[in-house]
Amino acid sequence: MINNLTLILTLLVAPLAAVHATDDIIIADFEGADYGAWTATGTAFGTGPAQGTLPGQQPVSGFLGHGLVNTFLRGDESQGELLSPEFALQRSYINFLIGAGKRPGEAYIALMVDGKVVRAATGNDREILAPANWDVKDLQGKMARIRIVDHASGGWGHINVDQFVQCDEHRGPTLTDVKAAQEWELATKELYNESFRPQFHFTAKTNWLNDPNGMVFFKGEYHLFFQHNPTGISWGNMTWGHAVSKDMLHWQELPDAIEPDALGTIFSGSAVVDWNNTAGLQKGTEKTMVALYTAAGGTSPASNGQPFTQCMAYSTDCGRTWTKFNGNPVVKNLAKSNRDPKVIWYEPTKQWIMALFLDGANPNFALLASPDLKQWSQIQSFNCPGGAECPDFFPLPVIGKPGVIKWVMTPANGIYMVGDFDGKTYKSDGVPKKVDFGSNYYAVQSFSDIPKDDGRRIQLSWMSGSVFPRMPFNQQMSLPCVLTLHALDDSILMYRYPVREIESLRSKTLRKMKDQPLAPDKNALAEVKGDLFDIDAEFALGDAKEIVFTVRGQTLRYDVSRRILRVMNNEAQLAPVGDRIKLRIVVDRTSLEVFGNDGRVSFTSFFVADPQLKELSLTAVGGTASIVTLDVHELKSTWN
Ligand code: FRU
Repeated sequence: MINNLTLILTLLVAPLAAVHATDDIIIADFEGADYGAWTATGTAFGTGPAQGTLPGQQPVSGFLGHGLVNTFLRGDESQGELLSPEFALQRSYINFLIGAGKRPGEAYIALMVDGKVVRAATGNDREILAPANWDVKDLQGKMARIRIVDHASGGWGHINVDQFVQCDEHRGPTLTDVKAAQEWELATKELYNESFRPQFHFTAKTNWLNDPNGMVFFKGEYHLFFQHNPTGISWGNMTWGHAVSKDMLHWQELPDAIEPDALGTIFSGSAVVDWNNTAGLQKGTEKTMVALYTAAGGTSPASNGQPFTQCMAYSTDCGRTWTKFNGNPVVKNLAKSNRDPKVIWYEPTKQWIMALFLDGANPNFALLASPDLKQWSQIQSFNCPGGAECPDFFPLPVIGKPGVIKWVMTPANGIYMVGDFDGKTYKSDGVPKKVDFGSNYYAVQSFSDIPKDDGRRIQLSWMSGSVFPRMPFNQQMSLPCVLTLHALDDSILMYRYPVREIESLRSKTLRKMKDQPLAPDKNALAEVKGDLFDIDAEFALGDAKEIVFTVRGQTLRYDVSRRILRVMNNEAQLAPVGDRIKLRIVVDRTSLEVFGNDGRVSFTSFFVADPQLKELSLTAVGGTASIVTLDVHELKSTWN
């Protein structure tokens, strides 16, 4: 019965469908040897349509004829765009076949009218192309283009499409999510112009980053290497990425510097300038830059069965190219996975000293010494309670105790020890203290070889835990901060404060106040709006119970009676100096960094600024404080 009915219906409908079919306008069926009038950029599209499945790809099906657009060319890493010529919208629907990546904003197709995305679609993480359509009734008569975008790498970082046809009947689901399409487009517009791209914090051009590595200053350039996954948006394939800057704010990303090999993927480490040519690798008069890194044996198929060791690479051309030392590894496996060597020159004994994390061992850190960066011997192991990974080790003068130098040891996670070092033994003065109280301060490292006449100890941290929706990059570094030691009462504390270079980004002063009351019922920052801020304030507490800032939707408050500074969900003790509190607040699109009393405490915090929420507010609660000084600066982007 059902079969008969189906047959009758089919016979009735068939002539009608045939009539409509002749009416259809084929925009593209990708059956030619090339893309015709479509223009391709990048590496994902090749010179013409794919003929089905590409090498290394799961079987592709569901396309019509022989050809389709398939951006798996050279795997998921390749990226690019394919843009159609302009055409008039003359039917109710655009039907198409679509498969592969469900990566909105990264791998998708878009319908463009007047240069704006009006429709978009992605695949569904399957290689099978399925019918779908855009309803374009409201756009009849307009001129349009179709853009096929692959800005994705890593899993499902490609898109398959075929058979764009204008029809009055639709096939498959109608994809109507214009708002999402516009958001994707806005969010990802072009590299470095995405809506959640930090504007003055370092991010990799694309893909994952974590720890800062190899931080060294040489010949007017700050070199920042970083844990990079060149082929994925998540952690993996660890490689040393590389960027240079003259001011630690405007960075230029260079090609990756050190790549995985049979000894392992390339985990964290440090770099120095070999001024005295101790390693004997110098060519001509140019000093050699030397990197000591972790070969993470067993973290890749090529290094299966290898242990964690420390290896060396060097550059004789100011860091532009790197050669691995042919005697690698230079430090053998010492613990489960000894890693993250940080090297410093110790002038009194003319030796290199390496601080190293001994994962799984107790004590958990070691010091090693070497005359030439190639032969290392362990001189001490010591415990940093509560510390793990990424040691840094450096001397600092103590402000308030003329002539006194102390040695600081920082593990990855926001704590530090202060002590003494005589070239052989490190002895800490006591238990570790904490300098940063934010949720996103990890894997800190400081620059080596800052010139003596500058003399600063400048540190970066990976802002671990940051999340970047729909962005082609993942993770960010903190602001560069200067570390100083201060003698206070009977202890020595480390402060952390933004480098002065940030002031060069101040474009406009949005509010300037001096010696004015801060009353409970009045917003001292009414009508101040913006994207990026540098706020510098000093308050006399008066009889206020709290001083409260809101910054683009985030709250920070100083609780006078508890003497606590609270930033988002974290808090730290902060005693006033006399009756006063100083706050420095630096705001980028995805970070809020707060410094209390000149860096006595800091909060490195990730948040995503809502593009609509540009306001600031500042009030007192429960009484009146006074603004000693308040300067709200707008910062300019380093990408303009
Ligand atoms: C710290 C860390 C290091 C390691 C690296 C690997 O974040 O775990 O100990 O070298 O990341 O990416």
